Amino acid sequence: MKIGVFDSGAGGLSVVKSLLAHNLFDEIIYYGDTARVPYGPKDQNTIIRYSLEALEFFNNFDIDLLITACNTVSAYALPEMNAQSNYPVLGVIEPGVMALENASLRKDDNILIMATRATINSKRYEKALEKLGHTNITSLQTGLFVPLVEEGIFNGKLLDATMNHYFSDIEKPKAIILGCTHFPLIGNALLRYFENKPLLIHSGEAIVQYLEARYDLEVKEDEANLKIFASDNVAGLRKIADTWL
Ligand code: DGL
Repeated sequence: MKIGVFDSGAGGLSVVKSLLAHNLFDEIIYYGDTARVPYGPKDQNTIIRYSLEALEFFNNFDIDLLITACNTVSAYALPEMNAQSNYPVLGVIEPGVMALENASLRKDDNILIMATRATINSKRYEKALEKLGHTNITSLQTGLFVPLVEEGIFNGKLLDATMNHYFSDIEKPKAIILGCTHFPLIGNALLRYFENKPLLIHSGEAIVQYLEARYDLEVKEDEANLKIFASDNVAGLRKIADTWL
């Protein structure tokens, strides 16, 4: 099976890391729209237009399945992308909610959703959790973490100050939905900040669980062949991939 992974930039490599670790595919084609990242502060129509343009890129490859690693794209563009492609396009929001449900939390446990402005405004995670009966949800736009991660800042004073800025007034969460591709990279810092050690829901691990539950996938013997493309500075993205992966 050959799959595509689409993200607004480099963050989707956190999803690729999980896909590689579970070894379910022969080939992974990654495309990061580095020329136009970030998508999180943009309007719905722009996010949909950029996502449909990314599909044109994947038309160059004979893929069986496309995963939109980007939560912002997953929140807005899946119906349009599925309507215009002849392979399934899967997002990461439904898998994230499923992973949280599998953790069997109490319905009144506090769940923190951290995501970009667009994802939070879409209320996609919130509505799905409410539908499942969750009553204690905190939604936070935490877009400042995106450029920090892009700069390779995974700990230190700047990150601590940003965590204080966002979290000093909130109830300690029992679980955190890392509703943005970049946030798994600050997972350790979040666990240091929240001493109660909340459960972290990671889009990459969630999509792997989701794929295993829905598709008849065999674990491959050889590691997947990964090809990385970008709309700008592909060498820079490949360098980040060397470090992250
Ligand atoms: N990939 C985006 C997401 O997961 C984060 C970066 C951006 O704003 O484009 O929502």
